[in-house]
Amino acid sequence: MRIDIITAVPALLSGPFDASIVRRARDKGLVEIFVHDLHDYGKGKYKQIDDYPYGGGAGMVLMPEPLAACLDRLLAERTYDEVIFLTPDGMVLDQKTVNALSLRQNLILIAGHYKGIDERIRSLYVTREISIGDYVLSGGELPAAILTDAIVRLLPGAIGDETSALTDSFQDGLLSAPLYTRPEEFRGMKVPDVLLSGHHRKIREWRTEQALIRTRQRRPDLLDERD
Ligand code: ADE
Repeated sequence: MRIDIITAVPALLSGPFDASIVRRARDKGLVEIFVHDLHDYGKGKYKQIDDYPYGGGAGMVLMPEPLAACLDRLLAERTYDEVIFLTPDGMVLDQKTVNALSLRQNLILIAGHYKGIDERIRSLYVTREISIGDYVLSGGELPAAILTDAIVRLLPGAIGDETSALTDSFQDGLLSAPLYTRPEEFRGMKVPDVLLSGHHRKIREWRTEQALIRTRQRRPDLLDERD
């Protein structure tokens, strides 16, 4: 898989892909991640990338030409399955969407900054708009990193224990059951007996029951959504 991220602030993306699971997936050749600095495509002598909004109002808008120049270059080099714009206006990201995107070959992510991007880029290039939640961040860089992380950890071989991505919270529409590790007793609190029993069926049943209890308590909306 290949993920190209277009941004006006590449420094915000210099850390997240260099550690842990994403780093390992890159080292194993499961994914290539390229960060493109919009300033390299800026207009004129001053490499301008943003301008005032027509009609007035606060904040700057990313100009269409630099974005189009970067997109055209990438689209001429290979076919992309999706051009995704990260924006609070988008569809709120969920595990189902992440699962679907993890099966794609080539993705472009556009991280907006400042007030937003020129609407014509959205009309001409963007195939999908994604929000990571109903709150506003300074830009789409952190959302792009979050989306990339969520996708990459699903690539076969990215996680040591092949089954663990499948038992995540949300993967079956439920939150996770409580987890325990050693010691058996911590500050007077004991690990539930069933987890020490070695009885795999009973452990599975307990976990499902706990996941249901936790989901009912914290996220009853997820139970309504389950197919
Ligand atoms: N850019 C700014 N806020 C955002 C959000 N919540 N989701 C995606 N992109 C954003």
